[in-house]
Amino acid sequence: MDIRIQSAAPEKQASACVVVGVFEPRRLSAAAARIDQASGGYLSALLRKGDMDGKPGQVMMLHDVAGIPANRLLLVGCGKERELGPTQYGAAVTAAVKTLNDTGARDAHCFLTELPVKDRDAHWLVRQAVETTLHCVYRFDRLKSEKDTVRNPLRRIAFNVEHKRDVKRAQKAAAEGQAIGAGVSVARELGNLPGNVCTPTYLADEALGIARKYKNIRVKVLEQKDMERLKMGALLSVARGSRQPPKLITLEYKGADAKHKPVVLVGKGITFDAGGISIKPAAAMDEMKFDMCGAASVLGTLTALGELQLPINVVGIVPSCENLPDGNANKPGDIVESMSGQTIEVLNTDAEGRLILCDALSYAERFNPTVVIDIATLTGACVIALGKHASGLLSNHPPLADNLITAGNESGDRAWQLPLWEEYQQQLSSNFADMANIGGREAGTITAACFLARFTKKYKWAHLDIAGTAWNTGQEKGATGRPVPLLTQYLLDRGRRR
Ligand code: BES
Ligand code: MN
Ligand code: ZN
Repeated sequence: MDIRIQSAAPEKQASACVVVGVFEPRRLSAAAARIDQASGGYLSALLRKGDMDGKPGQVMMLHDVAGIPANRLLLVGCGKERELGPTQYGAAVTAAVKTLNDTGARDAHCFLTELPVKDRDAHWLVRQAVETTLHCVYRFDRLKSEKDTVRNPLRRIAFNVEHKRDVKRAQKAAAEGQAIGAGVSVARELGNLPGNVCTPTYLADEALGIARKYKNIRVKVLEQKDMERLKMGALLSVARGSRQPPKLITLEYKGADAKHKPVVLVGKGITFDAGGISIKPAAAMDEMKFDMCGAASVLGTLTALGELQLPINVVGIVPSCENLPDGNANKPGDIVESMSGQTIEVLNTDAEGRLILCDALSYAERFNPTVVIDIATLTGACVIALGKHASGLLSNHPPLADNLITAGNESGDRAWQLPLWEEYQQQLSSNFADMANIGGREAGTITAACFLARFTKKYKWAHLDIAGTAWNTGQEKGATGRPVPLLTQYLLDRGRRR
């Protein structure tokens, strides 16, 4: 997609399609009003007829509007002007891009980026519009023999800013949007690939591909033997139930000199989670191919970073294997020894994410991190608690939690904090080992984080439970690419602070 920034007059713009907003009830946005004037009041007359109220999501395509050089004019309903927030704005841009993609216009000039969105500036509007555009044109059809081809796909879009002096900043915003969009696409693609294609080996190859593309990213892949040497008994116990070799993938992004401690991102990379011997019910089990979306978000965020070239250091760590039932798999009651030396009673083999993460989190210590953030589709309980709108956030360092919440609000990829109080720790006690890997029915998301907290005492740490946000179910089944926008925003904020 060719994306540009312009500062032009809507009524003078020669383009296949000019896109402007209409508010409820039947009120023209500033750009629409200028076109109305140029066309001798055509738009206001049209609104009076009642075909376009400006309701959210409503669109109307007009051809050959007199008085303007554009071939088409797309009116997009934006709802009430006073209620125009990030969600409504995103919906308007989505409606516009979907319509453009479905009609003959191959290039467009969009004025929605001039709309008055509450508490957001031109930079934010442009970046969000670019991300949304890339999100809308993404297709996953590489495994279909007949591609769902769009006959005249949108090829080029220009976003307008009101003042010429804002063009430079808007171009920067567009570049950020494209970087985040690229990262999101990487994460979606990996998430959508089935378990028989996207194996731990596939993830390792993908990481190597990223390192080939960006010269300041280095990748190292640890094999089973290496993990044995490191005594990663918890991770390896999960991998034992599978024919696919496990991988521990490390990506190092160097954007600053070595004295700057890195941010370490750790992503759960279970490429299929059948539950192991504590096997899951059949219904919707296919969705457990998405159990590597934490890993995908790490690879996506490193891609965004490769594009943005921020002046910081970042390390991505991806522990990856399958969780399957097998004669060699973990059995309920088995006790394994983690890299930290702590022993774990595996009361439920389906609580495997924490088993692979705990060893990866111990491994993270050697990078001397400034902070560590893990990202995992960890608990079904998180879907019950927060649904699909917010990722769960738990942390042993309040300022880090605050920074992540802020980054979520800014990027529209939000997280909501849950408590990590000492009182919950007792649910993990075991009669036979240092801890059990499950904490009972109550507060499942919190006890999962409590388990991880026992392996992250040496650094500032936050955990993002993305079980509800990483993919959509039902008709719209597919990976969302979250939380790449949140993580990239957090890194952008850190880059700016320096
Ligand atoms: N990958 C799942 C969590 C999950 C389940 C995410 C459903 C999204 C939808 C994880 O490995 C798991 O199975 N967790 C168990 C933990 C339980 C056994 C304590 C769960 O949530 O049921
Ligand atoms: Mn599981
Ligand atoms: Zn899992």
